[in-house]
This record gives sequence, C-alpha cells and structure tokens, in this order.
Amino acid sequence: THTEPTIFIIFGGTGDLNMRKLAPALYNLYLDGWLPENFAIIGTGRTKFTDEAYQEKLLEGINSFSRSGKADKKKWDEFSKHVAYQVSDIKDSETYKEFGGKIEGYNKEWKTKANVIYYLAVSPNFFPIIASNLAKAKLTEDTKRVRIVIEKPFGHDLDSAKELNKLLANIFDERQIYRIDHYLGKETVQNIMAFRFANSLFEPLWNRNYIEHVQISVTEQLGVEDRGDYYEGSGALRDMIQNHLLQLLCLVAMETPISFDSDEVRNRKVEVLRAMRPFSADDVRNSAVRGQYAKGWMEGKEVPGYREESNVDPESNTETFAAIKFFIDNWRWQGIPFYLRTGKRMHQSASVITIQFKDVPHRVFPSESSESWQQNRLIISIQPEMSIRLQVQAKRPGLDMVLNAVDMVFDYKGTYTNQAPEAYETLLLDTMLGDQTLFMRGDQVESAWELIMPILNAWQRKKSLSFPNYSADSWGPENAEALIARDGFHWFTLP
Ligand code: BG6
Repeated sequence: THTEPTIFIIFGGTGDLNMRKLAPALYNLYLDGWLPENFAIIGTGRTKFTDEAYQEKLLEGINSFSRSGKADKKKWDEFSKHVAYQVSDIKDSETYKEFGGKIEGYNKEWKTKANVIYYLAVSPNFFPIIASNLAKAKLTEDTKRVRIVIEKPFGHDLDSAKELNKLLANIFDERQIYRIDHYLGKETVQNIMAFRFANSLFEPLWNRNYIEHVQISVTEQLGVEDRGDYYEGSGALRDMIQNHLLQLLCLVAMETPISFDSDEVRNRKVEVLRAMRPFSADDVRNSAVRGQYAKGWMEGKEVPGYREESNVDPESNTETFAAIKFFIDNWRWQGIPFYLRTGKRMHQSASVITIQFKDVPHRVFPSESSESWQQNRLIISIQPEMSIRLQVQAKRPGLDMVLNAVDMVFDYKGTYTNQAPEAYETLLLDTMLGDQTLFMRGDQVESAWELIMPILNAWQRKKSLSFPNYSADSWGPENAEALIARDGFHWFTLP
C-alpha cells in the first residue's frame, strides 16, 4: 500500500476531536511511515492562529493523547513543517478561495496534483453549508482526488439523514464520501470479519441451528461530561445504537462477502439491516428499555445525575441507557434474539459481544456434577480487554465428576507485541488510500435510521415517568434485566 500526495483540510481544526484523535492519529501514521512524502495538514477554524501557534496547539494534543506518548522532538519538528492554519468563517464563501489558493500552492510546490481530503470535524449543523461552499468555490470537481469525511452524527433522524445524503449526492460521488463510524476502525472490530471469514470452524455453527442468542453490550463508566448540549438532543439510541451497535450487529450477522471489496462488504451489511424486523408500537413497549442515570458514587467519588449535568434540562427526557431486543428475519437468523445494550455511568466500561450457543441435546452427566452447567459461549471483547474467548465445559480435575466452564482464550496482549493502532489511524489511512470498506454508505445510514425511528418516536412522544431510573455505577435499569430474563437469559459481563 502506498499513499499519494495528500492535503488534509480539517474543519474544526481547533476542536476537541482534532486534538484528541485526528492530530495524534496523523502523527502516528507519520511515525509509522504511512504518510506520503508530500502531505499537508491545514487546520481551519474561527480563531486566529499563526502556523506556529497552531502547531504548538496540536503538539499539546499529541502530547496528551497520542498512544505513542509524548512527541519526540526531532520527529515532531519534521512533522510540524507539514502543518498550517487558515482562519475561516465557514459560512462565508470567500473563505473558500483561501483554501483554493493553498491547495494550488502545494500542487505547484510538489509539481503534482494532490489528493484533497476535507474533514468535517464540526457540529452537524455545518455539514451542509461547508459542502455547498466547497462546491461553489469549485473545490470539489476533481472526483478522483477530492474526498470528504463526515463525522457523526449523520442526520438526526431518517428524514434529515436522507436530506443530507441528497445534498452530498448533488456535489460528490458516493465514492468520495467517507461517513465515519469510528467503531469500524477499531482493531478488534475489524477482526470480527477476519475471525468469521478466515476460519472454517465457526461458519457451520453460525446460524439459528446452533446459536441461541447474541448480546452486544457497550457500557461506559463516563457520564455525559461536558457534552450535555449535544447529548440532550441525542440520547443513547442516536448516539450509540443507530451507528456503533448496529454496525457491530451487522458484522456478526452478515452473510459471507464474495471478496473484501468495499461495496461487496457493505452490500452484505446493508442486507442485514434491511432484514431486521421493524418495530411496532407494541414492540417498543415490550422489546425496548430506556434509562437515565441518577446521581451516585463512582470509585469513591460522588457524581451528578444526568439531569444535574451542565446544559441538561432538569426534567430531561433524554435516555442515557438503552436495551433493545431485535430479530433478523432471514434464513440464517430467524427467531434468534439479538440483545443490544448501551449506557453511560455504568458499573464497567466494556464493549463485549457474546454469542451463546444452544445447549447439548441431552445431558448425560449426573445432575450433581453439572450444577454449574453452562452452555458454550463465544465472547468477543472489543475494549478495554482485547480478546476472544470460547467458553467450553470441562471436567474439573479430581475423583468426582464435576463439570465447569473454562475459557480458551486468544488475548491480544499475550499474542502480539505490537501496539494496536487507534481507530482513527486506520480510518484516516483508508481515506488516503480510497478504501471505503470501513465507512458507512448512504443507504446503510438510512436503513439504520429507519429501523430505530419507531423507537425514537415512541420515546419522544411519551415522557418517561421513571427517569432517573438507574444509579451511577450500576448495570442500568431493572427493566433491562427483565427484558432478557423473560427469555431465560441474562446479560453477560466479563469478570
Ligand atoms: C461516540 C459517542 O460516538 O462514542 C460517545 O458520541 C461515546 O458518547 C463514544 O462515549 C464511545 O467511543 P469509544 O471509542 O470510547 O468506545
């Protein structure tokens, strides 16, 4: 793989995402030799900065958040020569001429035509105006070289997502549009496809005949922090389920792609979403649980409830937890429940997929030997632990016949010595290489919105009377336990 001369123009260049994720990712790509000889990073924002002052700002971000630790002086000096700043008013089309001038400048200097990647790390309100102004300034015409990266959230609901897709489609080809879902860049998430499609062992079992149910749980100890403003209008369903968790579900449930071609993979994923059983009003009542955290204690510290967070309505109806039972109406998955759960201020930060297999047809062991009997499970731990474990029954050594579950473990830490790259490194590299496999296609985003709209609407229409209904440092509201217990299962957690 080789990267061509590239100019990144980062809207939201002074923002949090750039400091925490994008700049450190670009720097690490540089350290690992992935960036081309000719590259430039132009940050842009409303605040005035000289190039030098901006470089200093990025350095702070990198020093605080880079996985490789504090920047090495010599490496940083080389890297920072590629970093520039352009003050801008993104609503003013004049601003965009400046970008045009800069791009031309680099092209002349490098004696080539560079790829240009516009990265929209700004509030979604600005997506349309930036895209339109780029077009007006004729900065989008080279369909081969120009790419646009759109951060989440992509739309606020189905209609706004469609509208945004339409606007973008008027300006760009789909193959120029990179809709980010950073979960897809995570090392362990990419490995789901490798695990499923590079091993012959699991595919024969990977269906309704052998799998009993699937759980996808993404819990966080963090609260909403200083993002109340955004989160109030979002909630867990929009913030996590519509994108990250449904994408994980697609990776678990998709059919085998014919090749690793980006459209081939994305077709298989969108087929899963299209096969998912739509929610009726009854389903929302029976199969979807919402929660909101109350104040409480986390690791010895008192933490505010969601309604006490800054920029949050003291009577907020926004959910910070959601648990939903989905079905996929196709031959592979008919009748097999997929339980999704996500929440903030939970007892543990862990993203874990659990595949529970059906029980043996008949237990031949005396009942006293199988008190702790447990069905086989495959547990894919995405973070913070990076592992895949297969839980099987074994005979405990001893003169008694006693069975217990043991783990066959593939643990990244024990297996590999190299550090896994951050999701944003993978995704930024892919935008340079023009590989869209790990990005959301327009129809994928719309299908995911379509699926959750009935739940969103029902929850919006009817205020929850029980909020707040779970305490910080818990596993969420009791109803979430009931949702799965009713079917005879329980939420799995790693020790
Ligand atoms: C973001 C959400 O997309 O994902 C956040 O907006 C959430 O609310 C975050 O905290 C979780 O990402 P990660 O990579 O920390 O699991």
